Order: sequence, then structure tokens, then C-alpha cells
Amino acid sequence: MDYKQLLWESHHYRFGLAGEGQADAIEQLLRTHRGRVLNVGCGLDGRKIARLASHCQSHVALDHGLGMLTAARSTCNADNVSFIAADAHSLPFPSDSVDHVIALGLFAYINDPVHVLREFRRVCRPHGYVMITNSVSRPEGEHRAAGVEAGLTVVDEAEGYCPAASGDIKRRYLLVFCEIL
Ligand SMILES: C[S@@+](CC[C@H](N)C(=O)[O-])C[C@H]1O[C@@H](n2cnc3c(N)ncnc32)[C@H](O)[C@@H]1O
Repeated sequence: MDYKQLLWESHHYRFGLAGEGQADAIEQLLRTHRGRVLNVGCGLDGRKIARLASHCQSHVALDHGLGMLTAARSTCNADNVSFIAADAHSLPFPSDSVDHVIALGLFAYINDPVHVLREFRRVCRPHGYVMITNSVSRPEGEHRAAGVEAGLTVVDEAEGYCPAASGDIKRRYLLVFCEIL
């Protein structure tokens, strides 16, 4: 990887899988609406989790992979992060118990996005944000429609170049949802 690419990645991927400008949009939202954030499919990089957590009051990093969580825990130096092993389809939290839900790169692994987005809506308090990123190789319209079916509406979106996107298509989208009240 050349130096420019490395710089690009360390800036735009600072929280995890995101396209150009998307980490900035997420950071801006978290700064102005600071709270308890659930990070679903947090992955193994504790440094990225800690960076995201620095914009949160408290941060719950959740993954169904035990190996992912072990690696994440051992590389995360933030004191406001807790780790939990669980499946995105069945979140072990009461309704309205977190302020925002973030899932970066999770939906490539999810066959039933409506089910998972319903879970996100359930645990997220009213007026909280649900933020997801995905590769454009999975049509954005599919996840927008899944959100609507789950009782959410898109309040912000962005598409951007992402060299880490799999395959030949190097773009990702960010969808920011709110509950339809
Ligand atoms: C592509 S990685 C993204 C990791 C991190 N969010 C990032 O952006 O770098 C997707 C993560 O989602 C997790 N995952 C996939 N399906 C899941 C599920 N049903 N429930 C919880 N985690 C899941 C995987 O174990 C993996 O860590």
C-alpha cells in the first residue's frame, strides 16, 4: 500500500468500514447527540472501537465472534467500552436502552436486514440514530426499504469511495435512520 493510500485509510477507516466522509458524518452526529452507543458487529480492532467510543458517553461493542471480541478487548484502551457476545438478530438489551446504534460493515453478513433493523429500532430510544454502512454491491435501496419496513426512516445518507470494499466496486453508502414516530 502506498503512503497516500495509508493516510486515506487511517483517516476514513478510523472507526471501521466507512467510505469517504462517512466517519466524519458519524462523528458529527455523535458529538452533537452524545450518549450510550451500541456498536453491532464491532470486529476485532480495539483501536477503532476506542476512537469511536471517544465520541460516546458509553459504548457497548457487540459481536457474535468470540475471537473478534478477544482481539478487540486486548487492543482497546478506552475505559467507557464494554464488550458483549451476541447475535445482531436477538440483542440482549431492553427496549429503548441505548441512544444510538452503529453497524459498520455488518449488513454484508445479514440475510434478513428487516429482522436486524427491527432489533436496532427496538433497543434504540425514540429520536436516537441508527447508522449503517455497506458496500454498494448490496443495493442501497434494499436497506432503505428494509429500514422502512422495520419502522425507520432515512434522515441522512452519503456515498463514498472505499478502497477496502470487496470486489471491483469500491464504494460504500452510509444510511442514517431515525424511528418513525
Ligand atoms: C466486516 S466486519 C466489520 C467490523 C467492524 N465493524 C469494522 O467496520 O471494521 C463484520 C463483523 O460483523 C460480525 N457479525 C457478522 N454477523 C453478525 C451477527 N449476526 N451478529 C453479530 N455480529 C456479526 C462479524 O463477526 C464481523 O466482526
